[in-house]
Amino acid sequence: MFLLAFLVFLAETKDLQQQEPLFPVLLESSTNPLERSEDIIPDSIDDSGDDYSSGDTYFILVTTFIEGESGSGKLWVVPNDQEMIEFSYELITGLDRPTGSCLDVNHGFLYIVDNGFEDQGYIYQYEVQWDTDEIFILSRNIYVIIYSGRKPYDCKIDQYGNMYFLEAEYDSINIISYLDLYSGFTNMNYTIYSSEPYVSYPVALQVEDSEDIYYANLYNGDEVGSINRADAYTEYINGGEVNMLVKNKYKTWGVAHTANDLVFFSLDSGEIWAVDDDNSDELYMKNKDLMKKPRGMCYGDSNVFVADYEDGIIWIFKDNGKQENPEMFIAIQGSYSVFCVNSAIALVVGWMMYCF
Ligand SMILES: *[C@@H]1O[C@H](CO)[C@@H](O)[C@H](O)[C@H]1NC(C)=O
Repeated sequence: MFLLAFLVFLAETKDLQQQEPLFPVLLESSTNPLERSEDIIPDSIDDSGDDYSSGDTYFILVTTFIEGESGSGKLWVVPNDQEMIEFSYELITGLDRPTGSCLDVNHGFLYIVDNGFEDQGYIYQYEVQWDTDEIFILSRNIYVIIYSGRKPYDCKIDQYGNMYFLEAEYDSINIISYLDLYSGFTNMNYTIYSSEPYVSYPVALQVEDSEDIYYANLYNGDEVGSINRADAYTEYINGGEVNMLVKNKYKTWGVAHTANDLVFFSLDSGEIWAVDDDNSDELYMKNKDLMKKPRGMCYGDSNVFVADYEDGIIWIFKDNGKQENPEMFIAIQGSYSVFCVNSAIALVVGWMMYCF
């Protein structure tokens, strides 16, 4: 089993590997084939870090692509500071259809979900480091394919480093454990929720406090729920509790959970709404007709950032229930998903010291 995973790994990273063959290293250290810092191995199963949605927001990661053009996909890094915004840059290019990205703020792993073309999609893992305003860079010139298969759609990382991701067309919510991600293994994914009664083409998710998953179903929202909250921990498939927060017949694309316990979501009609997480009868229309194709959302610094794929604009909404005209954040053609990089800086500094 291990050997198989290892061979897959070799095949997938060989282009970027310029060092000596990794074979001897692997034989000595079966769980650390990529020679990663042992500082980021958990000391115990309770060893959790910060939540990605808390703390100050330093950057917004934006995925962009042109529909139907292979290789047009990119990941942009945008400083969350009006004076620095002109220094936004492309960190990763040559992707196909990157529909989501997520960051493990405690261990410095960046993941990009490439929904791909035709039947095949990928999730790529990179090693990154960042600081409070200027630097967000790859710390090593390698990437690892940690998932290859049925088209994935979005991902999020909990406080332990575990990944939750969606396979929209197969109606499933899946998990990959941190140690498998750290080791760089491929396809160690397990399904935790699938199909009816609660999952129908899920396209966006958030994970809060490693406990709750908020996700948007594109189809059949009037039956399975458009925005649902599910237990992140379940012992078997569909074994957790799922609450439907919103049911409606429109396609639902994005979701963001905020510090005020609102859950923002975007509809195919262009409308942006928020629902009270504690009382789902409380629904707030945030904006009705500004956006054409609202897609990804993220929460940071008391704001919700929303990408409009058609206009290529990221808008900023305030974390409240009032209708508003949002502020424009930045225009980047083909903006599809956003990820707010919220602190966890102290741990990353430790990781940087290790690197140099
Ligand atoms: C991960 O997902 C793919 C489908 O894309 C599947 O072929 C593979 O068996 C899954 N891995 C595990 C361990 O179930």
